[in-house]
Amino acid sequence: MSYKRTEISQEDVKKQLDICREIKEGTHDSKRLALVDTFGCQQNEEDSEKIRGYLDAMGYAMTDDEFEADVIVINTCAVREHAEMRVFGNIGALSHTKKKKPGQIIAVCGCMVQQEHIAEKIKKSFPQVDLVFGPDELWRFPELLKTVMSTRRRIFARGKGDGCVVEGIPHMRSDKVKAWLSVMNGCNNFCSYCIVPYTRFRERSRRPDDILEEARSLVAEGYKEITLLGQNVNSYGRDLNCRVSFAQLIRMINDIDGDFVIRFMTSHPKDAHEELFAAMKDCEKCEKHLHLPLQAGSDRILKAMNRCYTAEKYLSLVDKVREYIPDIVLTTDIIVGFPGETDEDFEETMKVIEKVRYDAMFTFIYSKREGTPAAKMPDPFTREQKQVHFDRLLEVQNRISEEKHREYIGKTVRVLIDGRDREEGVLTGRTIGGRLVRTTGDESLIGSFTDVLIKDCNTWALRGDIARK
Ligand code: SAH
Ligand code: SF4
Ligand code: F3S
Repeated sequence: MSYKRTEISQEDVKKQLDICREIKEGTHDSKRLALVDTFGCQQNEEDSEKIRGYLDAMGYAMTDDEFEADVIVINTCAVREHAEMRVFGNIGALSHTKKKKPGQIIAVCGCMVQQEHIAEKIKKSFPQVDLVFGPDELWRFPELLKTVMSTRRRIFARGKGDGCVVEGIPHMRSDKVKAWLSVMNGCNNFCSYCIVPYTRFRERSRRPDDILEEARSLVAEGYKEITLLGQNVNSYGRDLNCRVSFAQLIRMINDIDGDFVIRFMTSHPKDAHEELFAAMKDCEKCEKHLHLPLQAGSDRILKAMNRCYTAEKYLSLVDKVREYIPDIVLTTDIIVGFPGETDEDFEETMKVIEKVRYDAMFTFIYSKREGTPAAKMPDPFTREQKQVHFDRLLEVQNRISEEKHREYIGKTVRVLIDGRDREEGVLTGRTIGGRLVRTTGDESLIGSFTDVLIKDCNTWALRGDIARK
């Protein structure tokens, strides 16, 4: 397995922070505003927190109004065509804001622009965009922005595949209760439909000491939920010589004093082992939730997807994790309509779903990604045919999710209250297995663990009352 990791020196990161200070001190305009808009996964959310951290160090305050922003950064996702279309719609609309505010700087970053054809399209068709940079170039955003500011030239900085590991970029976190903690970046799996290995490059892990230091400071700042992020967290550490596995990392974070919970995503079934399940069981702070993407239940399709497991192996893994943690919450991702997926193949997926009975599921219709092996496979079935499967999958899963939620009624569960609902006076929270809970209560409860007696539910959420002590 190939690894490519390039550690960016602290001196180089300091230079970026010096540039931030220079920009901050170099302007007399006291009210400078920036907007960072994020598409895509949690890893992208975490990247945006770093971009905001840099912008904050440059003296920018954040705004939601694209007409008043001096700098706009759009952090993009390439995983499906739909996400890309939304981004193009958004960038297109920014020609109006730039007309009204000609000095405005527009940057587009993230996975989409790491693809050459997208960067070219932006170059040709979206002249309002001043700066383009891939995920691996994020660490030198201050330097890139400064060059655009001083030369007013357009800059296109796509990574060359170096696989950077960077420490010391400030974060401006978007939540006060829940925090993302990226433990690794990139992916080595090359599932045949997926663009991520091409946009995020090869797997590289952060050093355990750096992760532990960040986790400790999050706990000290009062964060109650830390989500460890990686495209496949189970291969954490393979590129390092320190011999710390992901399961050991969970144990080390669990040992940090404080009242908080640990979540993680995502686990690839080919690399999920008993060592992980044992750590999940032993660690009282680790949520009893496993997101284990199945993608498809037909062995023929799994092979074509290059997933490296069979339905049988997947099901034995589910049995194993339930041996360790009988009431584990299981969630999954399913792709419907992979090239050549027949009715029979789809029925295999339905069989696995009925056997596992997931608590929740994320379902996607296959989206062709240029440059991936699946893009060259014959894809004879129409969108309408795929939609029929998709609708049936959703119907069955909705029934199972509701049935599973009904099992909570009458039980008292520990909930981390994490925010307000759109409904007046209602708070939201998550159970230890990550299920959404709505309850009425005082806003002062946000950020605390509270017992909730579950009284009602639907497919997506539980509803209950704060339990009297
Ligand atoms: N690394 C993670 C998730 C990556 S993307 C993992 O392996 O689980 C999140 C989900 O998007 C995937 O699990 C998959 O279900 C879906 N996905 C990825 N590429 C896709 C494509 N080309 N079309 C449709 N769905 C896709
Ligand atoms: Fe994509 Fe597969 Fe890697 Fe997940 S494991 S990011 S689906 S290539
Ligand atoms: Fe999208 Fe890149 Fe994440 S493609 S899902 S933003 S890793």
